[in-house]
Amino acid sequence: MSYSQKVIDHYENPRNVGNFDKGDDTVGTGMVGAPACGDVMKLQIKVNPATGLIEDARFKTYGCGSAIASSSLVTEWVKGKTLDQALTIKNTHIAEELALPPVKIHCSILAEDAIKAAVDDYRSRHVEATATSEQAS
Ligand code: FES
Ligand code: FES
Repeated sequence: MSYSQKVIDHYENPRNVGNFDKGDDTVGTGMVGAPACGDVMKLQIKVNPATGLIEDARFKTYGCGSAIASSSLVTEWVKGKTLDQALTIKNTHIAEELALPPVKIHCSILAEDAIKAAVDDYRSRHVEATATSEQAS
C-alpha cells in the first residue's frame, strides 16, 4: 500500500502539532483511540468566547501516517468554524481529501471522533465555567 502525496505532505510537515493548556476554559480537548490498531489521537480546539468561532487547533497523534495526516488536516479545517460547523466535518471528506485506501478509513474516523470529543469537552467545560463564576459572584 502506498501513501498519497497529501498524506506524505501532512506526515512530513504536520500542521498545528502541540498542546494548549487544559486549564484554559476556552480550550476543548478530545482524546480518542482506535480499537482496530491501538492508535491514539488528541485534538484540541481554542474557541473565541466573543465570536463562538474556533480560532486555533492543536493535535498530537500516536499512530500511523494516515492518522497523523487526518488530524493535521482537521486542525486546518476547523479553524474559523463554529462548533456546529466543525461537527459537520465527516470522515468521508477527510478520506477523500487524503485519498485514503479502504484499510485506512478508520484513521479518518478517528479524526472525526476527535473533533466531536473536543467540541463535547468544550461545551461541558464552558457550562461548568459559567456556573462556577456565577456561584462566585
Ligand atoms: Fe500501525 Fe496504526 S496500525 S500505527
Ligand atoms: Fe489505525 Fe491508522 S492504522 S489509525
